[in-house]
Amino acid sequence: EKGNYRHFMQKEIFEQPTVVAQTLQSYIRPLEQTVALPQIDFDISAVNRVTVVACGTSYYAAMVAKYWFEQFARVPADIDYASEFRYREPVLEKGGLALFISQSGETADTLAALRHCKAEGQTIAVVVNVPTSSMAREADLLLPTHAGPEIGVASTKAFTCQLAVLAALAAHFAVRKGCLDPAEEADIVRHLLEAPACLNAALDHDDEIAAMAHLIAPARDVLYLGRGPDFPLALEGALKLKEISYIHAEGYASGEMKHGPIALIDESVPVIVLAPSGPLFEKTVSNMQEVRARGGKIVLISDAEGLAEAGEGCMATIEMPKVHPLIAPLVYAVPVQLLAYHTACVKGTDVDQPRNLAKSVTVE
Ligand code: M6R
Repeated sequence: EKGNYRHFMQKEIFEQPTVVAQTLQSYIRPLEQTVALPQIDFDISAVNRVTVVACGTSYYAAMVAKYWFEQFARVPADIDYASEFRYREPVLEKGGLALFISQSGETADTLAALRHCKAEGQTIAVVVNVPTSSMAREADLLLPTHAGPEIGVASTKAFTCQLAVLAALAAHFAVRKGCLDPAEEADIVRHLLEAPACLNAALDHDDEIAAMAHLIAPARDVLYLGRGPDFPLALEGALKLKEISYIHAEGYASGEMKHGPIALIDESVPVIVLAPSGPLFEKTVSNMQEVRARGGKIVLISDAEGLAEAGEGCMATIEMPKVHPLIAPLVYAVPVQLLAYHTACVKGTDVDQPRNLAKSVTVE
């Protein structure tokens, strides 16, 4: 079943261009150049606030979606870990929309949060990969990902497919809210349709990242930094590395580093910086200088423009294609997945079945 791949995780990382394209097919009308939800008997334009709830990697997809809902559709989004949401007595607006994100559709805390919201009269939308799951059955608005079965315990292709659905949902919201005109919608559709090719371009760096993993494997701690929608990617990169290589890793918003974590930086701490070029790039460059001044070793993941400006003096660089901000989080997921994967291979850990972890967490 693994074909020519060594591990399911590796196979699933490489499936991403195909499964993201498959997923987008249900959310895009390429000829009309519009986004469309599969089943929408619900007036999304009346929604004034979205509550998004998930766990683990799916929670990081929710974090990215918050940036998109707010930036593109001007709809405020509250996000929370399901295990926190359930017990904090959340204030829910009457007739509000609650969105749950889950690969398995069975995660106990997320399912309990869903049932709580249902009892509170919220409309339940679900982004889920298993169409027969409990969450899929209990949803009012089912937004499936078409990633196919994900076997590796570390989530990879389910995450990028979740992002693809959430990007389409944010664009749909934006259209219904009058924030995007047809030409802008067509532009977004074009960029979303480019995502599979950009994922392929990111995957082309596999050998280079495999070599780089030898620089990461000896580390005791690794920091990941990102800004805006790439901040959740820093958290995701750190989670992937922890899960399968057992190296301690933390993700931070780039600008937060000087408020504490910078105390950890020395020559032994690799710092992975996720920074597509753009209006905030300069800010990240100054954060990188703070790291460098303390001897920190930087791996910069950026596009050609970003690397030309700030690549010098880095321990290593990985060049991503230049992409629209809406698809950057999908594309930048690839190098952090590959870096975790190859680091785990160097360390010889059990990539598909990491210690202490289950694929689906069906207990509280
Ligand atoms: O099936 P779910 O998406 O609800 O699962 C949520 C988390 O348990 C899951 O993402 C977990 O964090 C993964 N091991 C991450 O790689």
